[in-house]
Amino acid sequence: MIQLYWKNATAEVVGDDHGVTQDDLAGLHDRLVAAHKAVMDQADSGKLGYTKLPTHAEYPAQVKALVAKHPDVRDLVVLGIGGSALGNIALQSALNGATYNLLSDKARKGPRLFVLDNVDPALVGDTLQLVMRRAKTCLVNVISKSGETAETASQFMIVREMLRKKLGDDFAKHIVATTDMEKGTLHDIAKADGYDMLPVPSDVGGRFSVLTPVGLFSAAMCGIDIDQLLAGAGSMRERTQVHHWHENPAALLAAILYIAYKNKAKPMHVMMPYSNRLYSLADWYRQLWAESLGKAQDRSGQAALVGPTPIKALGTTDQHSQVQLYREGPNDKLTVFLDVAKHPREVRIPDVFADIPGMAYLAKSRLSKLISAEKIATEYAMSVSKRPTVTIQFDEITPHSVGEFIYLFEFATSIMGELLNIDAYNQPAVELGKKATFALMGRDDYSDMKRQIKPFTKFDKNYLV
Ligand code: PA5
Repeated sequence: MIQLYWKNATAEVVGDDHGVTQDDLAGLHDRLVAAHKAVMDQADSGKLGYTKLPTHAEYPAQVKALVAKHPDVRDLVVLGIGGSALGNIALQSALNGATYNLLSDKARKGPRLFVLDNVDPALVGDTLQLVMRRAKTCLVNVISKSGETAETASQFMIVREMLRKKLGDDFAKHIVATTDMEKGTLHDIAKADGYDMLPVPSDVGGRFSVLTPVGLFSAAMCGIDIDQLLAGAGSMRERTQVHHWHENPAALLAAILYIAYKNKAKPMHVMMPYSNRLYSLADWYRQLWAESLGKAQDRSGQAALVGPTPIKALGTTDQHSQVQLYREGPNDKLTVFLDVAKHPREVRIPDVFADIPGMAYLAKSRLSKLISAEKIATEYAMSVSKRPTVTIQFDEITPHSVGEFIYLFEFATSIMGELLNIDAYNQPAVELGKKATFALMGRDDYSDMKRQIKPFTKFDKNYLV
């Protein structure tokens, strides 16, 4: 079970100006209760699709059936971006680790996984050069809810053509399309070409979709226990249903982060895992927090301009990079540490240099003890500087605990959305950039927008030094 430890975010530890006081909590009580009720009501009335995922039997069944069809795949390439990629990367990094792709085909639990979440030509070119050498054992999972995102569409066009040239008529068996099952450009092409398809549920937004086939397929292909992942999310769902917010980790987390943001001048929320395995979860969280909560208008259309800025850092690495700023720079951040009691591996430090004091204290110890001491040391140092922190404690990194974490932050995001009185489920600012890209790349139905953009793109050499 993952748990939230929040003492070091309280006024008792970091003082009234920076820490949560009893008065802050009492002052928020009614609104927090109302926010929790509103989210629960939306969930009960079926409006929040992500809340149904932990017990949705059909999606994991569809995913498993498709995984069973591909026992010989050696390379799985995911094409997607944002909510159609970050969850896949986070699950893979957390549960299979950084060296998974370097293992031999026999030693791995599934195919190598490459998630192409950018159109950087070097990244795409290098990866495709590598995997297309053995195209016969390559499977491509193109993921796009809208079916038209330029990055994913362009990658798909490139990969489809490569597969067609290498494999002839068989190419369609090497593509799985995860998209809207009713409509859309990708949907139409998938039907025409005859790919296997998986659904992106229409009632689940991209950044909330990791527990749909969007995230489940690549995870299951790579041997991750998706039943346990969903069970973890389900057990956290139960805990988030508790009405008393002080016993409800998502409500309490949202309350602390909201109070930090609104009452304590902490517009930045840092997520700092003390585990490389969990580092990509911080990327997933950054999208969830930023796209859900960064909004220009409230729900009545009034100017709001709200949203805490999510930042990621890594312990211990960033102790030697960012912590100077976090402790002595502006006191404008709340840090969420992720801590692991039992790491997936242990490494012992040998009994050497007994006569060198600068080394001897480490001898015979374990790296897990060192990383844990470093986390406590940083937490202490931050508290001394009156910098609030909370910790999400993982007993172990398992599909279950990762599922718990995902649901915890999704639900906390919903409560934050209520407290900020904004629509946490749209992303109008992302859409404008997507449309401007269509226009700049010459899409016919965006020619008006292209004219609109033209004055902006006029190069002014007076500003080039
Ligand atoms: O959360 C979101 O909605 C976005 O980040 C999308 O996931 C991202 O833009 C990709 O969109 P699509 O899946 O439609 O290609």
